[in-house]
Amino acid sequence: MQVWRLKSDLFHIIIFMNSINDHITIASGKTYLDNVNLGEVAEKYRTPVFVFSEKRIIENALSLYQLAKDEYDKITIFYALKANSNINILRIFREHGVLAEVVSHGELYKAMKAGYKPEEIVFNGPGKYIEGLETAVKKGIKCINIDSEYEMEIVRSLSKKHGVKTRVAMRIVPEVEAQVIETGLSWTKFGLEIDNAFELYHKAGEDKWLKPVGIHSHLGSQILELDTWRRGTRALVDMVNKLRSEGIKLEHINMGGGFPNDYTISPIDVNIDVLDKFKPSIEEKPIFQTIVDQLKKTRYEVELYLELGRRLIADTGILLMKVINQKTRSNGEKWLILDGGFNILLSTVLYKWYYPMINLSRIEEPHDHPFRIGGPICDTDDAFHDLEGELENDPHLPRYRYLPEKTEPGDIIMVLHVGAYTIEEASNYNSLPRPPMVLATKEGGVRLIRRGETLEDLVEKEML
Ligand SMILES: Cc1ncc(COP(=O)(O)O)c(C=O)c1O
Repeated sequence: MQVWRLKSDLFHIIIFMNSINDHITIASGKTYLDNVNLGEVAEKYRTPVFVFSEKRIIENALSLYQLAKDEYDKITIFYALKANSNINILRIFREHGVLAEVVSHGELYKAMKAGYKPEEIVFNGPGKYIEGLETAVKKGIKCINIDSEYEMEIVRSLSKKHGVKTRVAMRIVPEVEAQVIETGLSWTKFGLEIDNAFELYHKAGEDKWLKPVGIHSHLGSQILELDTWRRGTRALVDMVNKLRSEGIKLEHINMGGGFPNDYTISPIDVNIDVLDKFKPSIEEKPIFQTIVDQLKKTRYEVELYLELGRRLIADTGILLMKVINQKTRSNGEKWLILDGGFNILLSTVLYKWYYPMINLSRIEEPHDHPFRIGGPICDTDDAFHDLEGELENDPHLPRYRYLPEKTEPGDIIMVLHVGAYTIEEASNYNSLPRPPMVLATKEGGVRLIRRGETLEDLVEKEML
């Protein structure tokens, strides 16, 4: 396949950097992302604005393949579009050997629009629309991960209608706990319980229109313990071995996503009172080795698929916002209000997610002064701390962010690690236009990859 050739061609020119910090330079009070002056970006494109590093995206795409080369090179990495489906980002991943994992007909459409061929796409999800399934079947997609018996029946009848044999894998819930976001347990809505999956493999194996080629599980996101990977992979390996002895030979084991990102990495030390889940203690190599140790227990060599979102895109994106209001309460607490909140960083309220914040306008001043930070949305929850947790004395986020004492309206605040599950979940709540996205290109330039919405965009789809 062409992507494998591309991967090997590119290895020799990439020098891997350790983290996003290696891409950020601070000089004479100015901050650069891969030589792009972030202050100038904020001025030109206005705030809020997302800025992505193309170099970091490429590094992330290639570094896992690099790691895999020594351990288990029968690996294919898929990018989980749900983390960030901008077409320009998809194109970069594709050019660097990362295939696509989609969870809706919309993502399937975007993946193909970005140039992915059907045989480079796997289709997941607990509620795939029939039009997505029909496109996937007709086009001959690499694999559909079956989420229920009902869904398998639909795939079967669509395959019969179009006279094709569709490649399928069963999505399993192996009853393995994860630490932050859990999806591999039967109390969730996802996938098939093991016994049910065995039945479906036999049914599919005997069917003229279906070809069981793999097995899938997604254990969770930001997985923090090796034991989760060990138990999850082991459960699938055991199934592969049993199925083999029953006459069904699978080609691949798909372990889904879940490699964590270290959200505490920042060029300035601002990491106070942050829970361990944002600074994972496990590293990539041991995760990979843990999976591979279990894979070696299969009775024949299977290909490993990974569907990574967060790990590939989280640390490639920065968000620039502006302070637009301030107040001091009678208890002395200073509040700053930014021009972006949960309309563009929904995970701050949904998952109490932590992102480091730095005052770009005063980058060389000590970040040692406590502020309460809120977004512009007319809603109590639109804050960068955990209000409910504070009321119950169990906050998941620090009460204060430490910024230079003189921080004031007009200052630009840089938020790090915002590449995953941010712009993708953004809304127009409070009728705020969604922000633009720009790319700091590998050549050292700046390219707009999503235009910012205008006020006209807000009414464009409404019947006037
Ligand atoms: C089926 C599936 N695969 C892959 C992913 C990507 O997960 P992550 O971003 O944690 O790597 C998700 C995310 O929820 C998912 O649901």
